[in-house]
This record gives sequence, C-alpha cells and structure tokens, in this order.
Amino acid sequence: MPSHRNIILIGFMGVGKGSVAREVVKISNYISVDTDDLIESMENRTVKKIFEQSGEEYFRKLEKKVSVWLENSVNNTLISTGGGFYKQENLKEIGIVVFLNSPFDKILKRIKTHPNASKKLKKRPLLNDLSRAKELYNERLPEYMAVADITIDVTNKSALECAKELLKKVKEYA
Ligand code: S3P
Repeated sequence: MPSHRNIILIGFMGVGKGSVAREVVKISNYISVDTDDLIESMENRTVKKIFEQSGEEYFRKLEKKVSVWLENSVNNTLISTGGGFYKQENLKEIGIVVFLNSPFDKILKRIKTHPNASKKLKKRPLLNDLSRAKELYNERLPEYMAVADITIDVTNKSALECAKELLKKVKEYA
C-alpha cells in the first residue's frame, strides 16, 4: 500500500463513486473528498460551467493541479474522483486505487431511475450524447482495469454492500 494510505475511487460517470464513498464514511473512520467538489470550490463554478466556459482541456488542467496537491498533502483519506481523473500519471502515488465497475447499460439505468435523473444527466457534459458516452466507456474500461489495484463489481449491489466489500478488500490488500 502506498505510504499516503489514501483510497482513491475511480470509475465511469454515474457508477456510484459518491454514494459508495458516503457509505464508507458512515461505517469507518475515513473522511472523504471529491475531486469535482474541490475543483468547483477552487473555481467557484460548476463542472458543467467550466466545460461550457473554459473547455475540457482547462478542466483537465485543474484535475492535474488537484492530483499534485493530493499526492503532496493528503493522507488517510477516501478520495472520490471524476470519471476521467484516473488518467493522472501520479494516481498510484496518491493511494490504493479502487475501481468501481458495472456494464454501461446498468450505469445508464442507475442514472435514469434516480429521483434526480435529469439533474444527474444535465450536470455531466460528457453524457449529453449517449452513443458517444458508450464509446467513451468502451475506450476507458481496459484503462480503468489496468490502473486498478482492487476492482469491485457494483452491479445489483447497494452502496452499503459495496462499501463493506471495499473496506474488506482494502484491509486484505494492505
Ligand atoms: C467526467 C466525469 C465527471 C466530471 C466531468 C468529466 C469524465 O465526474 O469530472 O464531467 O471525464 O468522465 P463523475 O464521474 O462524478 O460524473
């Protein structure tokens, strides 16, 4: 396990990284941070607005800045990330990488059946075009798998079940 002892959650948009992180926090001593939340507070605007007003490239630069800060300054923390954050070169230096996985169709169903479905779709610029989103999923899947230390299949499991599995696997990994 990297010396920082952080857990870094990666996975596609809508797979449930935030929900699982909240359950881990409830049943453990971990505190969680979310890279998109950090970026939004740094910029005082939403990810959606950052994409619209400054473009994706600018957003990726902010992710890079956050990744450097996480590596240098954050310890013993559960870090939930935006779906593209896994591309950061220093991911493994930040902490143990946990990939939350589910088939694209199940992820889409999860988003669409959520009580705030339209908000969830609207706030994610890369989900505007669903056929492009599926391509993106297919491109990223092998990359997520390659960088993961631990993979959790979240399909048909509650966030609490996933959180328990995560803590068990992290303990075994250490
Ligand atoms: C992105 C995922 C989003 C957010 C941004 C880009 C991506 O986060 O960082 O819209 O490239 O997959 P979520 O995974 O929390 O939706």
